[in-house]
Amino acid sequence: MSDEASGQAGGACWAVVLAAGSGERLGIGRPKAFVPLGGQPLLYWSLRAFARHEAVTDLVVVTPPGWDEMLLKEILAAFSEQMGPDAEKIRGAVTGGAKRQASSRLGVEAVRDLRAEGSCAAENQTGVEPVVLVHDAARPLVPLRMIDDLLERLWAPRAVDAKPVGVIPVVPVADTLKEVAWPDEQLAQRAGVGDRRAWEQVGHGSVARTVSRDRLWQAQTPQGFPFGPLLTVHQEAAAQNYLATDEAGLFEWNGWAIETVPGSTANLKVTYPEDLALLAHAMAERV
Ligand code: CTP
Ligand code: MG
Repeated sequence: MSDEASGQAGGACWAVVLAAGSGERLGIGRPKAFVPLGGQPLLYWSLRAFARHEAVTDLVVVTPPGWDEMLLKEILAAFSEQMGPDAEKIRGAVTGGAKRQASSRLGVEAVRDLRAEGSCAAENQTGVEPVVLVHDAARPLVPLRMIDDLLERLWAPRAVDAKPVGVIPVVPVADTLKEVAWPDEQLAQRAGVGDRRAWEQVGHGSVARTVSRDRLWQAQTPQGFPFGPLLTVHQEAAAQNYLATDEAGLFEWNGWAIETVPGSTANLKVTYPEDLALLAHAMAERV
């Protein structure tokens, strides 16, 4: 971690770790964030990555309904044992919503509430707008370098009247992209958003065209934002029933800027059962 990249602006940096999904595509009967990986629940690894980063000052975890107690008991106990004082950065757990976007909003609102309580170590001292890194617990191998890069851009000097800027990691699309026409469009649509059963039933389609991938990039998490604008855009989107697929999409919707930093192909996401074996392998390599 380079010196100038950490804690530059001396402001608070919150991590909101989203773990409230049900993990339907993984299909192992418990929320994905609580699936064991490397001897710990999946969620443990993201919490560890953020808590270990010296610029991250506070963490909030968003959990599925009914899981916060177990989270506090098991994960945080293991965490305190192994991480010492870094574990104290975890300020609380809040129950998520039906969709990822609702969970993200509830996490950001929890940040607002915790800040209002004034119980956050790094707050207050600088007057610098806090930043929030929103992360999917489904990506346990978030590289520390990526957190550095995001913070460097988030804390870069900007004109006082500049629009709010969010920062996201992106990786180039590796596969050739095809637009496909399917006999059952409804089924295909469900498959397209990740419904594996629909995908298996979708039948034989025909290629309508190849989509150029020249300017297409895949967005990853963590995604970083100034706290105030992120809270505002979340609340506006909730009021207007606007649904994006990530936080950056909300900024774009509002006409605000999103900058990119290099993502990492090692920042793997657990979606399907076979991803767990890949992740376990990648973890063993990393140690
Ligand atoms: N997530 C969340 N709240 C939701 C849905 C998702 O906090 N209502 C979180 C998940 O816990 C995950 C991340 O958002 O860390 C990315 O979502 P995804 O990979 O889709 O996870 P799940 O929704 O759990 O999986 P599935 O879609 O297969 O049910
Ligand atoms: Mg999901």
